[in-house]
Amino acid sequence: MKRTLRVFDLTALGVAAIIGAGIFSTIGNAAASGGPAVSLLFVFTAIACGLSAMCYAEFASSIPISGSAYTYAYVSFGELIAWIIGWDLIMEYAIGNIAVAISWSGYFTGLMDGLGFHIPSYLSTDFLTASRGYQAAVDAMNAGTPLSGLSPEMADAFSAWTNAPHIGNFHLVADIPALFIVFVITWICYRGIRESRITNDFFVLLKVAILLLVVGVGAFYVKPENWSPFAPNGLGGVLKGVSGVFFAYIGFDAISTTAEECKNPRRDLPLSMFYALLITTILYVLISLVLTGMVSYNELGVSDPMAYVFTKLHLTKLSGVIAAGAVIAMASVLLVFQLGQPRIWMSMSRDGLLPPIFARLHPKYRTPGFSTILTGFVVAIPSLFLNLTEVTDLTSIGTLFAFILVSGGILVLNPTGQQKHDGKGFRVPYADSRRYLLPIWVVILFAVWNSGIDISSLGSGFNLFEVVKNHFPFLTFCIVSIVITYKAVAKRWSLIPVLGLLTNLGLMSQLGVTNWYRFGIWLIVGLLIYFSYGSKHSRIKEEDALNM
Ligand code: ALA
Repeated sequence: MKRTLRVFDLTALGVAAIIGAGIFSTIGNAAASGGPAVSLLFVFTAIACGLSAMCYAEFASSIPISGSAYTYAYVSFGELIAWIIGWDLIMEYAIGNIAVAISWSGYFTGLMDGLGFHIPSYLSTDFLTASRGYQAAVDAMNAGTPLSGLSPEMADAFSAWTNAPHIGNFHLVADIPALFIVFVITWICYRGIRESRITNDFFVLLKVAILLLVVGVGAFYVKPENWSPFAPNGLGGVLKGVSGVFFAYIGFDAISTTAEECKNPRRDLPLSMFYALLITTILYVLISLVLTGMVSYNELGVSDPMAYVFTKLHLTKLSGVIAAGAVIAMASVLLVFQLGQPRIWMSMSRDGLLPPIFARLHPKYRTPGFSTILTGFVVAIPSLFLNLTEVTDLTSIGTLFAFILVSGGILVLNPTGQQKHDGKGFRVPYADSRRYLLPIWVVILFAVWNSGIDISSLGSGFNLFEVVKNHFPFLTFCIVSIVITYKAVAKRWSLIPVLGLLTNLGLMSQLGVTNWYRFGIWLIVGLLIYFSYGSKHSRIKEEDALNM
């Protein structure tokens, strides 16, 4: 491969992969629960991502093979953990793309509406949202709310459900535009795409331009009184936005897959991840402040918050421009992940963990044909009926887990930062945990204590079983933190990966018990597949057998 990419190209690549459904959609619910303070969550999450980004950069430059976290785990932890990561990355790439497709559909439908083509809501709403929203609307009406008094989402869901053709009790409600865009993107990936720098740069400019437009114009419509109270639902409300906010940053890790094509990976990879995160963080913080300043935070819980606020303030033309930009911007994110997923499967198949067909290249197009088509179906079918929040949560928990393992991987390979590099690779700068970790903990605990977080709920009723059942993610975080802190201090581990691991685990602990259960089930299914196929066909085992 040619080493042509420099900091500018790499940063552009990162920004292209990062800006998408997160800032265009999931920020809506996060702001609706957290209020203007969600802007601080963007900063904290960026720090957590930045810490893992350095670990990604070290791996990427010392193992410059595409395959991302899967390949790094293979090298640092061995096959089983690598499989777990590979399986887990399906959540980041394929499930993440379901979220982007659903969100794309939201903006596309709005755009079409603006242009005079109305797509019936039962053909543009997912099944889960419609059925749940219908039930909520019926409950609200039974409680006395008139039809005209329903929230816009409830009214939409109610209309989708009641107008849909049905067979018996089954209502034919499906998100057809989401299915459509996934098929189009899959076809492009299948035919083979050389993502040229020119198209990439175009997408980046477009995305940044839209966000700057929102900030620049929106700033004139901000009413500072909307920023007060800054955190209307307390820390708990802000933390409810973790999944949506974290989702908005996913994608910077895609930069690491280009390690073989960088001119100077040691310097450029970490630098460009840092720049990409910095640029997006500044934009995200500004956008969250502007949106929550333009309207009251509690109005933002819609799937197209940016278009919504501009329409609300009668800036309909601008709202149309934003929607059109969002539709193009999100299509480019879909492309990045729809290209990434088959390539991870390809690496796994080459290691013998998946059947050979996953690595087979199309004779003419030279793309992993089977994996690409399969990715298309895995993304398209669920996007017909799954709900945005649910898939965002799954994506975020899966990706956080990958970040945790990548940070942990550095601690396994190079715990004290002593390993010398060959001059080309990047190493996470070493700082001694013994010196810094405890003071950092003191500051954090002090801040949490003073933030007014209600920790009494943790021990409600002192029924141990209930506490464990309802709070095991947080308890896991506490226990792991104590153990890791102890070890890091005792063994003078490198501070950055330790903090990367702990901050991402902290974010993961906020994703709710149900998500942890779902994630657990996902991992169990993955392990069953590994033990019934991968462990028997793995390349390492075959090589071992030959050497005996
Ligand atoms: N960060 C990407 C997005 O927001 C996944 O769409």
